[in-house]
Amino acid sequence: MTVSNDNKQRGFWKSRFGFILAASGSAVGLGNIWKFPYIVGENGGGAFVIIYILCTIAVGLPIMLAEFTIGRKTNLNPVGAFQALKANSPWTGIGYMGVLAGFFILSFYGVVGGWTLAYVAKSLTQTISNFASPQDAGQFFGSFISNTWEILCYHALFMGLCVGIVLRGVHSGIERACEILMPMLVIFLILLMFRSLTLPGAMEGVEFYLKPDLSKIGSQTILIALGQAFFSLSLGMGCMLTYGSYLPEDENLTSATAYVVIFDTMIALLVGMVIFPAVFAMGLEPAEGPSLVFSVLPAVFAGMPFGNLVSIIFFILLAIAAITSGISLLEAVVAYFIDQRGWDRKKAVLITSTVIFLFGVPSGLSFGVLSDAKLFGMNFFDHIDNIASNYLLPLGGMLTAIFVGWVWGTKSAKEEIEKHETQFHWGHIWGFLIRYVSPVAVLLVFLAKLFQ
Ligand code: TRP
Repeated sequence: MTVSNDNKQRGFWKSRFGFILAASGSAVGLGNIWKFPYIVGENGGGAFVIIYILCTIAVGLPIMLAEFTIGRKTNLNPVGAFQALKANSPWTGIGYMGVLAGFFILSFYGVVGGWTLAYVAKSLTQTISNFASPQDAGQFFGSFISNTWEILCYHALFMGLCVGIVLRGVHSGIERACEILMPMLVIFLILLMFRSLTLPGAMEGVEFYLKPDLSKIGSQTILIALGQAFFSLSLGMGCMLTYGSYLPEDENLTSATAYVVIFDTMIALLVGMVIFPAVFAMGLEPAEGPSLVFSVLPAVFAGMPFGNLVSIIFFILLAIAAITSGISLLEAVVAYFIDQRGWDRKKAVLITSTVIFLFGVPSGLSFGVLSDAKLFGMNFFDHIDNIASNYLLPLGGMLTAIFVGWVWGTKSAKEEIEKHETQFHWGHIWGFLIRYVSPVAVLLVFLAKLFQ
């Protein structure tokens, strides 16, 4: 059965390269530039990096291929896709869970996206490169994120940028934007790495980053690495599935998957090469946690030659990464309303983005007026992040793996993958990973959380 879908509101990628850039744009985001370095900093440097890479290869890569395959096979959004492959079964629930996760993630992702835009503006006006001490930089960040109006305006601006791109559709909007933004991102990153590595004392940071400290590896490390791999590769909610659904039939899925995974991992590793050398060269602490990028780096920039320029480039890079990921989250939700509800693109984009923005408002205010509104010690932002990133995504990924491995079946999946390729040489290894390794790995993570 070929499920074809000629709904004009959907669209297609125009080129293979454009698709790979768009999917890489989805993967490379705040997860790589904001989260990855501080997680590495907190978990023992190089040792964590090795575990992260193993999780990416053994669990992330097979699930990404599974998502692309389901997407291309059905040419549908997450809900429609599972429905098409196994009509009227509870498996459709994976799709609903995915759309919900996308909604949740974008609601707080947009808040941090707003912070990145604010820091671009503040670098341009030279507000954030004059700090005398790291404490000043930290205080500045603290008072910024508690300022209701500023937060709301930048949050709205970020959502507005995503809306502007997604409104124009898959090819003219998403693909074009990524074709411009992704090369910029790579160039900026290389420039920054050069600046960072040529600072006196930089090598200490490189050493911390690359030298594995095996004593820091425990079961907790593996959980964190696996969760990070899911988030960084945009897996577990049908985001990659949706991007796969805009592929023409003759696309080689296995090589596309490999490119996206390698690209995402390379960027995360390179970001480490920018941040750690600079942090060490300026004599600051790498294990600063989530504020590493927003409050430690400005202090780092303040102390280095060309610091203001470096800070402008860095925050533009961060904003680009956030936007190309934000649009993929929005697109997955929008695709559901286009396919399943028959909405036109404009209506779907405007309504979903408004609702997601409004739902994100309490997250945006979680560090200001709502900072005391805590439940179980966590604010609204933390709760939404926690529900989506630590539960919905891994659960979605595990169920997708089980669905492809056992319900739809690796045989049907391989047929789809091999449709226009000569042969899927790694087919048996992939089959093994998707049937056993991926679901069991995620299950272990859940069990470990339960007993934690
Ligand atoms: N991968 C992106 C990042 O690293 C975030 C993201 C985009 C995402 N789409 C997703 C995360 C879907 C999970 C699921 O920042």
